[in-house]
Amino acid sequence: MIVTSVTVRVPAKINLQLAVGPLRADGYHDLVTVFHAVSLYDEVTVAAAAADSVTVVGEGADQVPSDGDNLALRAVHELRAAIAERDDVLVDDDDDDDDEDEDAAGDEDEEAPAGPLREGGAPYIGGVAVTISKRIPVAGGLAGGSADAAAALVACNELWQAGLSQQELCDVAAAVGSDVAFAVLGGTAVGRGRGERLSPALVAPAVYHWVLAFADGYLSTPAVYGTLDKLRANRAVGTPELSAELMSALRAGDAERLGAALSNDLQAPAVSMFPALRKTLSAGIEFGALGGLVSGSGPTCLFLASSAARASDIAVALSGAGVCRAVATAAGPVPGALVVRGSVV
Ligand code: C5P
Repeated sequence: MIVTSVTVRVPAKINLQLAVGPLRADGYHDLVTVFHAVSLYDEVTVAAAAADSVTVVGEGADQVPSDGDNLALRAVHELRAAIAERDDVLVDDDDDDDDEDEDAAGDEDEEAPAGPLREGGAPYIGGVAVTISKRIPVAGGLAGGSADAAAALVACNELWQAGLSQQELCDVAAAVGSDVAFAVLGGTAVGRGRGERLSPALVAPAVYHWVLAFADGYLSTPAVYGTLDKLRANRAVGTPELSAELMSALRAGDAERLGAALSNDLQAPAVSMFPALRKTLSAGIEFGALGGLVSGSGPTCLFLASSAARASDIAVALSGAGVCRAVATAAGPVPGALVVRGSVV
């Protein structure tokens, strides 16, 4: 049996807490964050092909790079390298040389290599055609690009029957981007370091109901971190600490306490760069949310509601108030990247 294509569904992430420490020498910031995966999904399909390529369709597709800068393609390259390092396998790394013509070739006409098989019967690690179907807004603070990279890792692990464990996939993910490992894991987890060092959070089995208010515009994550550094230029920045109140609310499954404990150090810089968010945030609270904040580096705003019905009411009210481009409701936590379809010959 040879797997010819695999489709993975992957959730958006929000940060229930995002505490940012001082700028490090490597350009990153030490974080303590509480990641939470919510039911807004992208789908990523990988199919065996003669060379690597990526096609993006759906929400904001024209904003996603389709060359070697695409995070999903970078994830494919990292996984191929990790497998080659681990096994003595046949790896076709012709397209690791960033040859743009080859990457952009859109190789539908070329026959996918069906073999040879690796030792133990697993398929040859050749090129992949990656198709990303987007619903998570691009550059919205919901880690959509990282989600697609995580999905590509999980999908190629199946396509190539490489057998990496979830922990091994998380290790590869950490090399691709700070939020990629969490998208593999999902649920609710505490992130440290750049955000890539994860431990699952001890939480009550509660479902939380979120409203996502999508902004009419984008924010660049490095630019928002840069603005935070400027805003803090004249004061000492301490080591980030996990919020005991937030973790206690999660352990109790208490939405009201969780709403009051939400926090994000990137909110002030995001709002200073995108002042319209102030109105969005106050409208959500006025319409009855238990808490609201900017998601990650923004500009999406998040609101916690006391029930699914209240979330729908808040979404309708936000829509009517004209304080955002679009709204969605989502529940969390949900699992990370999961295979939903595949085909074999
Ligand atoms: O890791 P990732 O590529 O997602 O990070 C994007 C950018 O966000 C980094 O280049 C850096 O400017 C900023 N960042 C940071 N500290 C982190 C994570 C991201 O400064 N912990």
